[in-house]
Amino acid sequence: MRERIEKVEREITEIVIANKQDAEAFRILYLGSKGVLKSFYQEFRAVGADEKKELGQRLNELKLKIEEKLSKITWEETENNVATKIDFTRPGRSTQIGSLHPLTLIRNELIHVFSKIGFSISEGPEIEDDWHNFSALNFAPDHPARDMQDTFFIDSMMEGFSLRTHTSSVQVRVMENEKPPIRTISPGRVYRNEAISARAHCFFHQIEGLYIDKNVSFADLKQTLDYFAKSIFGGDAKIRLRPSYFPFTEPSAEVDVSCTLCHGGGCGVCKHTGWLEILGCGMVDPNVLDSCGIDSTIYSGFAFGMGIERIAQLKYRVTDLRLYSENDIRFLNQFHF
Ligand code: PHE
Repeated sequence: MRERIEKVEREITEIVIANKQDAEAFRILYLGSKGVLKSFYQEFRAVGADEKKELGQRLNELKLKIEEKLSKITWEETENNVATKIDFTRPGRSTQIGSLHPLTLIRNELIHVFSKIGFSISEGPEIEDDWHNFSALNFAPDHPARDMQDTFFIDSMMEGFSLRTHTSSVQVRVMENEKPPIRTISPGRVYRNEAISARAHCFFHQIEGLYIDKNVSFADLKQTLDYFAKSIFGGDAKIRLRPSYFPFTEPSAEVDVSCTLCHGGGCGVCKHTGWLEILGCGMVDPNVLDSCGIDSTIYSGFAFGMGIERIAQLKYRVTDLRLYSENDIRFLNQFHF
């Protein structure tokens, strides 16, 4: 009997069960009421006391092996018939959804605010020639902004090209290609050769605006900026303009918004002045209009430009510029809105 048990053990390891029918035949053959195991148990009753313990154990092992083989088959079968075995009542596994980058959020918000008053969106290349980044914008040949300290020049094969230092270059392209009235904003990444710190980076993002038509005045500029400040920083935000200088605008101004934290009372963020500097602006210099093929005796316009990081800093209180480009998930996770 011992030998026959061993033979059956070998037999079952070799049997291949390919489908449900095979499995059923296997079960009947070994575990059925007239099956192999049953006949072994019948024989076992007559076994002498000296062999009973050993053979009993062997029979048990054989039974376990047969059952194990069948249970594996059943498991494989479930795989083949997934559709019938899915538990539809089981709660799903949640997937992690990413969030928009804070700079994208602010950019979208700015685009929304300006598109409401009729501004379109223009984009242009990040690698620019001298004309679009500087010359057309009335930069004198020896203007310090052309200096190596500010501009990333691209040498060798692309003589005369640089990474744009502002998106005013896009506005030049728009003026060259479109007829007034022009009302457009140009969001995009710009580059400046600065040491990276919490307050400065070698690249950042801008949105610049341009409006050219007959009789555009400084009052239009002020009104547009006031609308922008109130839309972004809240209805009680105020702006103030300080005289400034840009080669491409005359007159030029720098714009402050009342501190979003202390509302003008004075705090650490606004250095106790009650005001935060947010953008540069002015009336487009007639030289620029003429350079771009727009008759400055008929048309006038205003332009403004701001850093998206700066606006994001004021809205989200991010004090270190480097956080925007480090992809730290702990930082980015805070912008699930
Ligand atoms: N281009 C200027 C800058 O990068 C911003 C600006 C745009 C100022 C338009 C005035 C008018 O700093």
